[in-house]
This record gives sequence, C-alpha cells and structure tokens, in this order.
Amino acid sequence: MVNIEIRAHPKYSNIFISGHPSSLKLYTKNLIPGKRVYGERLITYKNTEYREWDPYRSKLAALLLENPSTDFLKSNLNCLYLGASSGTTISHLSDIAYEGIIYGVEMAHRSVRQLIQNISNRKNIIPIIGDANFPENYAKSIFTEINLIYQDVAQPNQAEIAISNCKYYLKDEGTLILAIKSQSINSVQKSEKVYAREKRTVKNAGYEIIESLNIHKYAANHIILIIK
Ligand SMILES: C[S@@+](CC[C@H](N)C(=O)[O-])C[C@H]1O[C@@H](n2cnc3c(N)ncnc32)[C@H](O)[C@@H]1O
Repeated sequence: MVNIEIRAHPKYSNIFISGHPSSLKLYTKNLIPGKRVYGERLITYKNTEYREWDPYRSKLAALLLENPSTDFLKSNLNCLYLGASSGTTISHLSDIAYEGIIYGVEMAHRSVRQLIQNISNRKNIIPIIGDANFPENYAKSIFTEINLIYQDVAQPNQAEIAISNCKYYLKDEGTLILAIKSQSINSVQKSEKVYAREKRTVKNAGYEIIESLNIHKYAANHIILIIK
C-alpha cells in the first residue's frame, strides 16, 4: 500500500495536499467515508479519509492549483452552484462547506438524474432542475442567504447569466467564481478578446474583478474570475 502523507493546505480552508509544492495533489475530507462520486481515489491518513481532487476534471481544483490570493472557502458557506452536471465539483464543495448548504442548478435532465444518484447521501446538497438564465424560477428552492456563487455553464452568455444570479441571490459581501470558456462564447474570435468582453460585462454591472486566473494547463480555453 502506498503511504501518502496528507497535510492541511497552508492557505485555503478545508483543502488538503500531499507531495512537493511543484507537483501538489489536492484532497478534500470525505464527508461520506467509503463513498466515491466519480471514481476518485480515496486515501486514509491518520484515521481520516480523503478524496483526491482531480484538476483535469474540476475547474475549481485547477483554480486552487493556480494559487489565487483570495480564500473564499469556508465550512459554513451557502453556495449557489450553476451547472452542477453529474456532481464532480459540487461533491468536493460539499466536503468543504460541510456546515453550509449548496444548491446545485442543472438544466440537463440526464445530468440531474446522475447528480441525484451521486450525491443522494450528501445532506448539504440540494439539486435543482432549472435554467440559470432565469434565476427567479428557482427562488422557492433557496431558503438561505447565498455567500458564494460558482458558475460553470459553458454558454455564450456566461457573464450575463452570472450577473443576473448575483443580482437575485448574492449577499453584498459575497463572492462569485466565474469559469469562462472562450470556445463556448465564440469559437472564431481570439480567446483574449472574448475574455475582455466578458470582463467588461461584469464591470459594467458594478462588480469588481478581484482576480483573473488562467487555467489553460488543466482546461483548454478557460479562465476563472474571482469577483466581488
Ligand atoms: C462544464 S459542465 C459543468 C461541470 C461541473 N461544473 C463540474 O465541474 O462537475 C456544464 C454544465 O452546465 C449545464 N448548463 C449549461 N447551461 C445551463 C443553464 N443555462 N442552466 C443550468 N445548467 C446549465 C450543462 O448541462 C452542463 O452539465
């Protein structure tokens, strides 16, 4: 059996790491020990089980490996997650925000069915079938204030969708994490132009971009914005 030493990340709450800083592996503490969500590796260290977090499968993991200066993760986060898909990233958020609630909005029925199967034993995730273009449509399913919105929907109007959800749900001092895939917006235009346009949409709506990180190493044509 491989003996992997796992330690707390020096900067981000509830994130764990192993290995040398140049080739870090990320983990979250498994909220439901013994259960995998997407075939990830489970590792027990000092009687605690951790789930390895793959940055090639999860843009949030990729973001953390790019070392943002903001620590936006907390155990009591209430998060609105737009584009939950079958549950890969949201399951790690559920490990991290174990005292909070994560509302996972997804419009593809097939993905929602898989999501429900994958996270049914995680009591802090509420799956919602809905289109993130219409935030008012899921208002009845959201019963706490929201201090983090995470969006990964790969749509042509990514920034607009994010802003309309922020206006509807995000607390004043809350954070928006916005994954932007240039190819979903315009497959012909240069990525940099597409990113610049989405950033303008965010700024014109009165939000401040705290950080912009390139995650091309893990996900082609993607950047992630951290917004207040
Ligand atoms: C790139 S995948 C998300 C992967 C997921 N964030 C993860 O890391 O586990 C994008 C998802 O957004 C969903 N989606 C696209 N447009 C949407 C919309 N308007 N409302 C809700 N979900 C949407 C798609 O069905 C797809 O499952």
